[in-house]
Amino acid sequence: MTQQSESNWSPRFESALHPAIAIFNASINFDIELIEYDLTGSQAHAKMLAHTGIISPDEGEQLYAGLEQIRQEYRQGKFNPGIDAEDVHFAVERRLIEIVGDVGKKLHTARSRNDQVGTDTRLYLRHQIQEIRQKLREFQQVLLSIAEVNIETLIPGYTHLQRAQPISLAHHLLAYFQMAQRDWERLGDVSKRVNISPLGCGALAGTTFPIDRHYSAKILEFDDVYANSLDGVSDRDFAIEFLAAASLIMVHLSRLAEEVILWASEEFGFVTLKDSCATGSSIMPQKKNPDVPELVRGKTGRVFGHLQGMLVIMKGLPLAYNKDLQEDKEGIFDTVNTVKACLEAMTILLGEGMEFRQKRLAEAVCEDFSNATDVADYLATKGVPFREAYNLVGKVVKTSVSAGKLLKDLTIEEWKQLHPAFEADIYDAIAPRQVVAARNSFGGTGFDQIKSAIASAHHTVSHK
Ligand code: ARG
Repeated sequence: MTQQSESNWSPRFESALHPAIAIFNASINFDIELIEYDLTGSQAHAKMLAHTGIISPDEGEQLYAGLEQIRQEYRQGKFNPGIDAEDVHFAVERRLIEIVGDVGKKLHTARSRNDQVGTDTRLYLRHQIQEIRQKLREFQQVLLSIAEVNIETLIPGYTHLQRAQPISLAHHLLAYFQMAQRDWERLGDVSKRVNISPLGCGALAGTTFPIDRHYSAKILEFDDVYANSLDGVSDRDFAIEFLAAASLIMVHLSRLAEEVILWASEEFGFVTLKDSCATGSSIMPQKKNPDVPELVRGKTGRVFGHLQGMLVIMKGLPLAYNKDLQEDKEGIFDTVNTVKACLEAMTILLGEGMEFRQKRLAEAVCEDFSNATDVADYLATKGVPFREAYNLVGKVVKTSVSAGKLLKDLTIEEWKQLHPAFEADIYDAIAPRQVVAARNSFGGTGFDQIKSAIASAHHTVSHK
């Protein structure tokens, strides 16, 4: 072999890359992930070349079939390009030439790897976004089904992680349903900007060939084509938007994970973890650890990191393509895999890996002063200005705490002494169930509100 033939490049290059630089430069180890999209993109490009008469129909068909053969080889595990291929695009082109001969050398007419890799990444993300949205739906379904059977299960509601007011467990879970719904919608919105074709932008300036960008875009089911070739090859806004949307999904999963971890602690005791979703300790035989939510909470860090990484990659890049952009892929792939895995794990955890301890929850809402607002509301309904009522109740909480009593333990005489407006119905008004039921304002925790929230959630998840 001459030195020149060892290089991927034109005869301008007289010798091959330094072996360490070849490894440093290569992306094949990770961009092989794009192969199916690369093949699909190249098939559309080949069809476009034939359609516009840049190559003959027969040549177009040979290219198409050769690419299809590579797809089959890859699926059968028979296509494993090494580091010498540099990246997936060269690997495919090289194999195509082996399969179809010289006509394979026509595939790269009127195209650059710059518009090619942009096309592949968008096709990949478009597909993955659909899969993530599907997983969000499954996550929402499980939240909804637990909510449905826990409308009247009460759980302490917190602010500042201090007991605030009791709420319906369904209401708590449906809050996460809403977050997931925004995530689902946000990904749909990001998709609109992912689904624009850069194919045909060439290296940066377009091409001298009479290509038809709209034709290949249509085959690939893109909604539109980039209007400016420089922008088309160097834009990664869509990737940043995706990473930001993925980061928000992780924020939501991580918040829920944190709550499950708290709930599973001895101190809260609101849930029991089932053996299928918990692990033990190698030294402490009594331990049952919430590894699943801990991992979800922990993995959130890497997704935020990928968003930050991508923003930094882009911030000083002059137009148009720069090799820095090769660094977009690992973060995107890892984000896709992490978000999918975390959604799946949380769905399993909620659906079959944990159980709410009904008895403990029922006790929890009876053991504190979280019905204090309701006493103030009671007086306010009877004409006492709210701030005055609030101060009265503050006083009674203070004396009760020092007497080791709860509000429900006060006698009717004690209530009347506090304010003559109190009647025997105060006991009903401060019973946890009534405290929850009474919050019937739109979006509140009242049972009637929850029932209509569940009905509308069912309607929401029916949209695929
Ligand atoms: N592997 C490259 C990437 O991922 C493909 C594009 C290479 N283009 C170039 N001009 N070197 O970005």
